Amino acid sequence: PPLDAMVGLPDFDYAARNYLPVENYTYYRNGAGGEWSYRNNLEIFHQFHFRPRSMIDISKVNQTLKTTILGHEFSAPFFISPAARAGYGHPDAELNLVKAAGAQDILYMPALYATKTIEEIAAAKKEGQVVFQQLYLDSAADDEVTQALFDRTEAAGADAIVFTIDSAANGNRQRAARFDVGSAVVAYEAYSWDYLDKIRNMTDLPIILKGIGSVEDAKLAVEHKVPAIILSNHGGRQVDGAQSSLETALEIHADAPEVFEQIEVYADGGVRYGADVLKLLALGVKAVGLGRPFLYANVFGQEGVEKAIELLKTEIAYDAGNIGVPDVGKIGPEAVNWRTGFYG
Ligand code: FNR
Repeated sequence: PPLDAMVGLPDFDYAARNYLPVENYTYYRNGAGGEWSYRNNLEIFHQFHFRPRSMIDISKVNQTLKTTILGHEFSAPFFISPAARAGYGHPDAELNLVKAAGAQDILYMPALYATKTIEEIAAAKKEGQVVFQQLYLDSAADDEVTQALFDRTEAAGADAIVFTIDSAANGNRQRAARFDVGSAVVAYEAYSWDYLDKIRNMTDLPIILKGIGSVEDAKLAVEHKVPAIILSNHGGRQVDGAQSSLETALEIHADAPEVFEQIEVYADGGVRYGADVLKLLALGVKAVGLGRPFLYANVFGQEGVEKAIELLKTEIAYDAGNIGVPDVGKIGPEAVNWRTGFYG
């Protein structure tokens, strides 16, 4: 189908599924185990419904998408989550993603296991463009190896490091394994809060943690003075059965709501519609990430990724307007009925 036919993010999944070699699409689409977490990430949003308010002047809502992420200004409260191997979707791989993010003024988090190198991606940034570099760290590696990776990240001009902590062991990904495109990243990691405290002294860049899945870890991140966390179950790719980031955000909202004030909290997983973004923001999440939708949109190159970004921006503004939220940045928990569905 032509790019013009894409009217929402799920359309890019359909396009990629029909266009890409099946093993490439499968690597992107795969979740762990029976893919219950993958599906729950998508479906959980539909368990909670808006409480629309009317007769509110929302005429300027489309000018309220701007936000800051770790102090950097962006045009929208969503970002491109780190996802390996963009080259499975397009020969220009991550270059399309970084350019689209630059052109649209949103945050891009390049993955360590990208098709292009950290340096190639950095060279495609526009002047002043902010990127946060995702890293996997090997706790068994010599300090010099870790130091070299940090130095390389700093030299490439990254503005923060995203340390992925939800992949301490390999994910059990059966679909991709059938095509031999699984990823063997680590055997078993020895991550700990002491390890974080140690590596933090090895770089000047802020280190944010990706893959928080419980209120306990969110509180520990605050205690350990982590500037920001990303609630995530890795798109359901690591451990099947891990709760979605919306459920983790609900836990934090119930048990330790102060976390949302103490540090910046971001979230990703299953976000496909503007309405999904708004439900996470309503709980206090500052920005929301998307992985697969942008990998799929990249089938159309930079233009496709930009189109996906534009569609999501428009949906957020439409939906906020229709529920009577005049300022997207000020949406609160009262915008959603959290008592429906599972939690009734
Ligand atoms: C990922 N994700 C990921 N995360 C990370 O920290 N480092 C990585 O290298 C990757 N690689 C990766 C590859 C592919 C193909 C996918 C789909 C995902 C996880 C990613 O950052 C994000 O958490 C999820 O993609 C969010 O879920 P959705 O938006 O894909 O539903």
